[in-house]
Amino acid sequence: MVQVLLLCGSVRKGSSNEAMLRLVQEVVGDAGEAGNAGNAGNTDSAVFYEGLGGLPHFNPDLDTDPLPEAVTELRSAIADADAVLVCTPEYAGTLPGSFKNLLDWTVGGTEICDKPTGWINAANPGRGEGAAATLRLVLEYTGAAIVEDACVRIAIGDPDIRERISAVLTALR
Ligand SMILES: Cc1cc2nc3c(=O)[nH]c(=O)nc-3n(C[C@H](O)[C@H](O)[C@H](O)COP(=O)(O)O)c2cc1C
Repeated sequence: MVQVLLLCGSVRKGSSNEAMLRLVQEVVGDAGEAGNAGNAGNTDSAVFYEGLGGLPHFNPDLDTDPLPEAVTELRSAIADADAVLVCTPEYAGTLPGSFKNLLDWTVGGTEICDKPTGWINAANPGRGEGAAATLRLVLEYTGAAIVEDACVRIAIGDPDIRERISAVLTALR
């Protein structure tokens, strides 16, 4: 069993990046049902991290015991996962500040080190490159194990969207 933690860079109601990650959950769920029907025992899970909006602003003074509860929850969610999958919008040419804040909170922990990590860039063609580049830079800094085949651009309207998500999950696995 592989558990994938889904990190969304948007807190917006109706977020397209969240929609992509909710579809990832559906794909994982469908694969599980098919696996169970065939007795293949595929019980992978995809957990959507809900806490982005509740994280405090990163402050090294707070990065000490006892950690803020929201930070403990974030680090536990990463520790519990076998892999991490990010889907984030681009704001002003880079990552949204709130999502960079999440990544800053991972630096003081070791949970994300060597964790297989990928991302889906759901922006329209030619867009979102700045966010992807910054994401790579920051993830490299955190020590996450970037899985190149799991770093892809998939448009929400892609006719092969489920197959392409499956390929990302296979690469992460
Ligand atoms: C403040 C702001 C800045 C943005 N800057 C960019 C940008 O630099 N490049 C880009 O491709 N899109 C940019 N966008 C568009 C968002 O990335 C796009 O609307 C995205 O779908 C939002 O993600 P969400 O639907 O998951 O909330 C910006 C949107 C906002 C609100």
